[in-house]
Amino acid sequence: MNFDCKPLANYPLRERNTLGFDVVAQWALPIPQAEQIPVAIRWAKNAGLPHRVLGGGSNVVLPAQLPGLTLLMDIDFIEVLENLAAKTRLRVGAGTNWHAFVRWTLDHSFLGLENLALIPGTVGAAPIQNIGAYGVEVKEYIDTVEAYDCQTNQWVTLSRTDCRFSYRHSVFKDEPNRFVITAVIFDLPKVWQPRISYADLTNYFANRAVDAITAPAIFDAVYAIRTQKLPDPKVIGNVGSFFQNPVISNQQLQSLKGQFPRIVSYPESATHSKLAAGWLIDQCGFKAMQMGNVGVHDKQALVLTHRGGGNAGELLGLAGQIQKKVKETFGVELTVEPMIYSEQ
Ligand code: EPU
Repeated sequence: MNFDCKPLANYPLRERNTLGFDVVAQWALPIPQAEQIPVAIRWAKNAGLPHRVLGGGSNVVLPAQLPGLTLLMDIDFIEVLENLAAKTRLRVGAGTNWHAFVRWTLDHSFLGLENLALIPGTVGAAPIQNIGAYGVEVKEYIDTVEAYDCQTNQWVTLSRTDCRFSYRHSVFKDEPNRFVITAVIFDLPKVWQPRISYADLTNYFANRAVDAITAPAIFDAVYAIRTQKLPDPKVIGNVGSFFQNPVISNQQLQSLKGQFPRIVSYPESATHSKLAAGWLIDQCGFKAMQMGNVGVHDKQALVLTHRGGGNAGELLGLAGQIQKKVKETFGVELTVEPMIYSEQ
């Protein structure tokens, strides 16, 4: 099938980035079908323009003028490939809303993704940063990722190993704009066990009977906890955690504990630990701080907010101040978690 490629000029993206920044794409093209992608990429290459993909815009910081071609990922479907005694295999379009997909799995009694309820964004974005919450990372359930490789101009299927998943990271972050993800294949095992060892969930279920700890109950718990701690991007602009939780050596942790006995950490490996960046930022006094049109959330210091009228420069200015102060106080570098796009 031949597709006409008619991108739209000066396309407003305010509704397509959860920070709610006023952003205008030089060119934008809605992509409801995967077959349009090679044509669109060729169009951008012929015009000598960069390209990128936008899903829910919930993990990106965009400049006021976004150059080149922005593909608006609208491929939206859920397909049951196999429903076997041992597992269910699902193929899901990259533009499908993540939370709607999680709810759909539970409505169909396909269990496992309940800890990842209410994460904003699309299914195609989930493997990029290997979304994770409440003790679960999406990589555990991903079988393969279907994508168009803009470097080789070929359709590819990446295995879980090819994706090189790690904490909030994957090959898709290492090689930004190389792959346009079109669908994700999930394997959900039929054997199910609740995962509630994350402190917030343990506390939530502390006084409940064991048989009340079902997947829908965990979904409801995560929903309640997230709603309480994290701002709704429809109301207050944000991209969730703005920094990764830093991983440091156990040696450095021991010396920090000497100075800061209440520091929050989790074992990461035999030799390394992860620090709660929210705690570090909170201790530096940034929580609930407002700086012009941007600020730090009052219930979770890891989340930066925008209430209107601000821009990427202002937000990155605040992020820079936080990084500097945390470095001075604890000697720890904070890595920015969302993807930052520039005007170049
Ligand atoms: N804390 C503070 N002050 C704060 C924030 C946190 O003292 O302002 C402390 C908490 O009391 C807790 C610890 O820090 O002891 C960890 O806080 P929390 O449980 O809220 O989780 P987090 O480590 O800050 C991570 C993810 C979140 C995810 C939650 C739950 C990262 C970068 N963030 O946050 O993911 O929802 O765990 O699993 O790993 C996201 O990536 O956008 C995101 C929201």
